[in-house]
Amino acid sequence: MPPPATPHRLGRRFGLVLFALACQLAACGSTPPPPPLYLQLGGVEGIQAVSNAMLQRMSTDPRTKRTFDGINLRTLSASLAAHLCKVADGPCVYDGETMRNAHADLGLGGSEFETTVQMLRDELDRAGVPQGAKNELLRRLAPSRRDIVTTDR
Ligand code: HEM
Repeated sequence: MPPPATPHRLGRRFGLVLFALACQLAACGSTPPPPPLYLQLGGVEGIQAVSNAMLQRMSTDPRTKRTFDGINLRTLSASLAAHLCKVADGPCVYDGETMRNAHADLGLGGSEFETTVQMLRDELDRAGVPQGAKNELLRRLAPSRRDIVTTDR
């Protein structure tokens, strides 16, 4: 049985509660939250640069260029950048198709997807994006594989 609360004890408890409350209000002892992911990726301009570089590679590498005939790369790059920026909590408006609709007629296979992800990884490294931010972006994109890959190729 705890001893009955004396006025002195009440005072101490009250003090502790007040301290905890003040701490919560002032975020006492906690580190400030990290900047949003899109800023860690280099901001809107950094994402646009990565997007350009990635599409340049995708549309010329023999392993991935198959589906890019007749595609307007400038338009696609702007759309890809807006999509990546949105996925990374950025202030961009993506008004393109869903990933499923955009890739529905391309018959993309797992190896084309994996090569593309590796290109994105390389370009983020080349841009000096920190490992944690790069992995977080890739983690967020991973579920779209099931919408983009439609064949066993
Ligand atoms: C994480 C992987 C991928 C992401 C985030 C992604 C994202 C996008 C986005 C945002 C669009 C534009 C949709 C629109 O504006 O309506 C698009 C279209 C396109 N993507 Fe992907 N994509 C991925 C993988 C791939 C792969 C692996 C390929 C081929 C190797 C590919 C080839 C294309 C092509 C050719 C288009 C243009 C389709 C058209 O205009 O008819 N994508 N993608």
